[in-house]
Amino acid sequence: MIRKAINSDIKKIYELGLRYDKSFDKHYHLESYIDNDNYLINIYALDNKVIGFIICTKLIDTIEVQLIFIDEDYRNHGYAYELMKSIELDKFRIILEVSVENVPAKGLYDKLGYEIISTRKGYYNGVDALVMEKVIK
Ligand SMILES: CC(C)(COP(=O)(O)OP(=O)(O)OC[C@H]1O[C@@H](n2cnc3c(N)ncnc32)[C@H](O)[C@@H]1OP(=O)(O)O)[C@@H](O)C(=O)NCCC(=O)NCCS
Repeated sequence: MIRKAINSDIKKIYELGLRYDKSFDKHYHLESYIDNDNYLINIYALDNKVIGFIICTKLIDTIEVQLIFIDEDYRNHGYAYELMKSIELDKFRIILEVSVENVPAKGLYDKLGYEIISTRKGYYNGVDALVMEKVIK
């Protein structure tokens, strides 16, 4: 099931996030995001075990995906797709950035109908980043 993250999920989200980025706990301050309306954090839980999360900022009419992560053992089951759908709020535009080399994530965003709106040349250590957008009616 997908639900909004609560305080007791924070430890597990850090644990998962650190697998993706060794500085995850330096970049994200989950304790201050949980009750902040400018953030949207949803988790995917299976039998009460958190196996993935999505962290977004939410400002006026724009949701920006900061990170979506699924536990390696649970990939390719459609869980990221469902998490991405869970942030599609009516009348918002959703933007995100992805490395051209991140094939799974690019595939995910393509499947969801995101469109490339700009390219940041060499943004990730010489690798291009794509800025993608989906407008929710
Ligand atoms: C990207 C990520 C979140 C995908 O999670 P997932 O749960 O395995 O993805 P899903 O099973 O929901 O896949 C949905 C769609 O994404 C695409 N996709 C997923 N994995 C893919 C892969 N390895 N190669 C190509 N496309 C892929 C496919 O279109 C897939 O649909 P399909 O199964 O009908 O082909 C996961 O690989 C991950 O956590 N990666 C590390 C973190 C990351 O890179 N996050 C994105 C940067 S912010």
